[in-house]
Amino acid sequence: MARTPVIAGNWKCHMRLDSAFELASGLRDRIDDVQDVEKIVCPPFLYLATVEVALTTSSIMVGAQDVHWEDDAAATGEVGPQMLEELVDYVIIGHSERRHRFGETDEMVNTKVQAALATGLQPIMCVGETLEERQAGHTEGVLLRQTRSGLNGSEFPDGFIIAYEPVWAIGTGMAATADDANGAIDLIRREIAAGFGQAKADTVRILYGGSVTGDNIAEFMSREGIDGALVGGASLKVDAFAKIVEEAARVRTGARGN
Ligand code: PGA
Repeated sequence: MARTPVIAGNWKCHMRLDSAFELASGLRDRIDDVQDVEKIVCPPFLYLATVEVALTTSSIMVGAQDVHWEDDAAATGEVGPQMLEELVDYVIIGHSERRHRFGETDEMVNTKVQAALATGLQPIMCVGETLEERQAGHTEGVLLRQTRSGLNGSEFPDGFIIAYEPVWAIGTGMAATADDANGAIDLIRREIAAGFGQAKADTVRILYGGSVTGDNIAEFMSREGIDGALVGGASLKVDAFAKIVEEAARVRTGARGN
């Protein structure tokens, strides 16, 4: 089954109201017409409504960067899945900054994935090893554990999105090699096949994330198992993000011989 590639921009804790609107509008002008790639931007919660306005009727979709697992709850500072679902279609869950800076556990990630799916949001579930885990030879074990526990008990739809983001590659300018990323992604897909069947696993979009730029995206997209990218730093400028989207579309369209 052909998997539609995904390029998602994670704006993290950047932008102000005016620059968020400008970035979204600039992207709309530049990449609205690019086909064959699912394009997603994930602004901070506070700017979701503004970005939605800038992208009304555009082909660029909007996602949030996190979600709480319940609505109508005593959960100060959190945003629930039903609230998000009124505004956006996607949500990043279990980003390494949430796991390692804010103490999110595998169980919390799983609870969030289940709550998002139950509400009709499409999770972008992140997994990835730290440098210490990699150096200790634990990469495989970490990826298998995070994948298995993240999806535990879920009935996820075809086309579910996972991002493999080695923590040491995020924001460092030191991207993984395409071969390494492809190997990790193969492992993740095999684990999903073991739990949910090969046919289901073949529908899952598995992205690479970590220092992706317009200059290295083609290399990642040339690997059959890599279905796109989750982009941080390079998603904050129109030109940089547009180049990634355009390159991804070019490589995939070329690969199909069109
Ligand atoms: P980066 O971030 O592209 O700046 O490395 C990726 C991410 O955190 O999703």
